[in-house]
Amino acid sequence: MEVIVSASWSHLHSKAPPGVERTVIMKRLRASIRSHRKLSTNHERRKKCALSSSQAKPSAPAGRAKQKGEELLQTSVSPYHLFRDMADVETFRRTLLSWYDQEKRDLPWRRWVEEEADLDRRAYAVWVSEVMLQQTQVATVIDYYNRWMQKWPTLQDLASASLEEVNQLWSGLGYYSRGRRLQEGARKVVEELGGHVPRTADTLQQLLPGVGRYTAGAIASIAFGQVTGVVDGNVLRVLCRVRAIGADPSSTFVSHHLWSLAHQLVDPARPGDFNQAAMELGATVCTPQHPLCSQCPVQSLCQAYQRMECKQLVALPGSPDIEECALKTRQCQLCLPPTKPWDPTLGVANFPRKASRRPPREEHSATCVLEQPRATGGPLILLVQRSNSGLLAGLWEFPSVALEPSEEQQHKALLQELQSWSGLLPATRPQHLGEVTHAFSHIKLTYQVYRVTLEGQTPVTPAPPGARWLTWEEFHTAAVSTAVKKVFRMYEDHRRGTCKGSKRSRVSTPSSRKKPSRGQQILDSFFQPHIPSDIPNSMTQ
Ligand code: ADE
Repeated sequence: MEVIVSASWSHLHSKAPPGVERTVIMKRLRASIRSHRKLSTNHERRKKCALSSSQAKPSAPAGRAKQKGEELLQTSVSPYHLFRDMADVETFRRTLLSWYDQEKRDLPWRRWVEEEADLDRRAYAVWVSEVMLQQTQVATVIDYYNRWMQKWPTLQDLASASLEEVNQLWSGLGYYSRGRRLQEGARKVVEELGGHVPRTADTLQQLLPGVGRYTAGAIASIAFGQVTGVVDGNVLRVLCRVRAIGADPSSTFVSHHLWSLAHQLVDPARPGDFNQAAMELGATVCTPQHPLCSQCPVQSLCQAYQRMECKQLVALPGSPDIEECALKTRQCQLCLPPTKPWDPTLGVANFPRKASRRPPREEHSATCVLEQPRATGGPLILLVQRSNSGLLAGLWEFPSVALEPSEEQQHKALLQELQSWSGLLPATRPQHLGEVTHAFSHIKLTYQVYRVTLEGQTPVTPAPPGARWLTWEEFHTAAVSTAVKKVFRMYEDHRRGTCKGSKRSRVSTPSSRKKPSRGQQILDSFFQPHIPSDIPNSMTQ
């Protein structure tokens, strides 16, 4: 402190123009000391916080930039949203881990970690699971994971697989670029890194394609025992509730704060288990809509829970005081914003605040199942391959065209497309089967589904590159998206004469539809009023 004062003193002197009154200088000096005292108190507080977080060493590289961000945060964040007390941190770790030891689900990737001694194999097993679990439920992933690890038990096996095989196994899991990136990563490890997976969160993130901050932290902590926290959707929800963080979690500021909390809380003795326990808690107890607070091991440390209880008691005399953020919501960048105050019907689910999502872009197209009857067995159906970049890269689909403004134009466009793939112009009119809707992450796609049968016509075989005639059985193991599976189901139902719309797949047929969808309205409005006369008969019959 003395150094600071004398520095300020000399600073003031050197700057003081001749003739400035001594009293003015003294005033400035006092103000300067006051501001240094404030700084120093903050510094102490920061040191105290840092002390409690010192166990959670973010990997050396996680580094300086991250630490700087964390220090900045700690100066500007109310203690209400922090863990100030090391005893609370220890209680959190102990109760969460003992709950996990009793309640954890028996999941295949956890067995790999327990039973595999080779670090690269262990990292690979975690890597595959974490990539599959992004945006996909555990229950769905298990089967895919087992098939994947059976087919490619090592990084070397995956590196020598084809993209077609990867897409085939991934079929139905969604977000197909994940499988492709995983395979690119395996190739990089095998071809450029001597078969060794990078050993820290930072190097994993730096060196492996498709490995972001979360996946890197998960692999490093679960496979290698690095003491580093992770924040996925489940952990985000847990942290937002335990520290009553109601600000937009997608903002940089809140995200920094959540990562900082995760690094502070992670148990240095069992970082991988701790991270999985936090995810497990979010997935099974601290769920988005109906959290099971009575079963929560960290209920006593949960600010959201305390707030909910107090809000319920507040009407009663002698209600206990609850600690709230000392900065009122208007100033605090982590509280619920004034525009979204506490909603008593939500309870702890007031946190985290839902990100306002842009509605998905709507797209419409027409797709056609072209079938070629065979003397025996079911018909063959034509599939074509999408380009190797963009949405659903490299996957197979039924020939598709843009939606046209009239039925005749639609038929013409579809028939031309079919001709370009099969080598002949089908003689029958496309039959409209109904409509299939599928939601991708940012696109809502509606297909008008058609069927065309080649009666007495023999197409060019084999099909040209990028096209294939498949049996129904082959279709079931092909690299196709869920949207294409839905189209196939509609076609299959139609062939079997059931013609039922399935609510599950949001498939609707013309006969089952009550209220026409927007796509159908577009079609209807164009198809009904006039039939243009410029289409040759051979095209339309
Ligand atoms: N979600 C993502 N990774 C997970 C894991 N390792 N355990 C439980 N849930 C998860």
